[in-house]
Amino acid sequence: MLLEIKNLSLQYVRGKKIISALRDVSLTLDKEETLGLVGESGCGKSSVAHSILRLIPANEGKITHGEIFFEGKELLQMEPEKIRQIRGKEIAIIFQDPFTSLNPVIPIGKQIEENILTHSLKTSSLQLKEKIFSLLEEVQLKETERIYNSYPHQISGGQRQRAMIAMALANRPKLLICDEPTTALDVTVQKEIMELLMKLQKNLKISILFITHHFGLIGLYTQKLAVLYGGEIVEEGSTQEILKNPQHPYTQSLLKSLPRKSFKKEKLPVIPGSPPDLSSLPSGCIFHPRCPKAIEECKKKVPLLRELKKFNRKISCDLAPFS
Ligand SMILES: Nc1ncnc2c1ncn2[C@@H]1O[C@H](COP(=O)(O)OP(=O)(O)O)[C@@H](O)[C@H]1O
Ligand SMILES: [Mg+2]
Repeated sequence: MLLEIKNLSLQYVRGKKIISALRDVSLTLDKEETLGLVGESGCGKSSVAHSILRLIPANEGKITHGEIFFEGKELLQMEPEKIRQIRGKEIAIIFQDPFTSLNPVIPIGKQIEENILTHSLKTSSLQLKEKIFSLLEEVQLKETERIYNSYPHQISGGQRQRAMIAMALANRPKLLICDEPTTALDVTVQKEIMELLMKLQKNLKISILFITHHFGLIGLYTQKLAVLYGGEIVEEGSTQEILKNPQHPYTQSLLKSLPRKSFKKEKLPVIPGSPPDLSSLPSGCIFHPRCPKAIEECKKKVPLLRELKKFNRKISCDLAPFS
């Protein structure tokens, strides 16, 4: 097993409010596996990613419970120096908007170079340049010389995302976290980037944690799937099986709201009602206020994530299975 998240709980503090952003989240990811993490905006997807990389600012949030093992080593208790060696080297991340991670005043080539040098100081400048060019080619960027010398604003959105991928892969990570990597791009470019990512995943034999609010992408590109709602995992199993026969009413609603063509201009799924207020959670099942199948009991009893053998998955709904 490459990554194991065990019972992760995370709280943010905003003024007097405590936002319970993640509660008891457990996930596993094997070597060379792709895991999709899906859910509406605000359900805690990025919080999972930031927890793995220890990027939660201490004055904003706190992991109150849980463990995260990467190749058997626990990350949450690790010395900051050791985490820095893992971040960007063993585990890399790409974000939705490359502008948040690319420095606007440094040319692309130079930024990739800095990323390489952070983790291997001894590379000669000739080797470095060759390495950067081959990385740019690896992500299928043409005009490598121009891209190398360009500032981020001088290249297109798709090119920027490719440059980001090149940077993320520069140190040959074992795990790549993609946090809504194509959300800001138009439909055709989105598809190209996803296909590039999947090709690289196979060639480089890396694992990918793929975060999105868009079910269409998950179906095409991941093996396993975890559905997050209001900071909790509500359904988890093989992507194909869940898509074929979703069991949690939330997953069912998400799928129903999916536009028919996967790459159609994205709209947020429209499920009646809104996600729970994480600073004052509903009683019982947190999905009950929006659930078309809810009964009286659902307002009172908190469902546990449990094995649903018949459907080969885990689910947190006491009313399941629905055949
Ligand atoms: N730094 C922060 N301070 C306070 N609240 C935050 C912070 N980051 C995220 N949140 C809140 O935590 C919840 C989960 O956020 P996030 O993990 O970004 O969700 P997602 O990536 O699924 O959209 C949201 O309610 C969000 O408003
Ligand atoms: Mg997010």
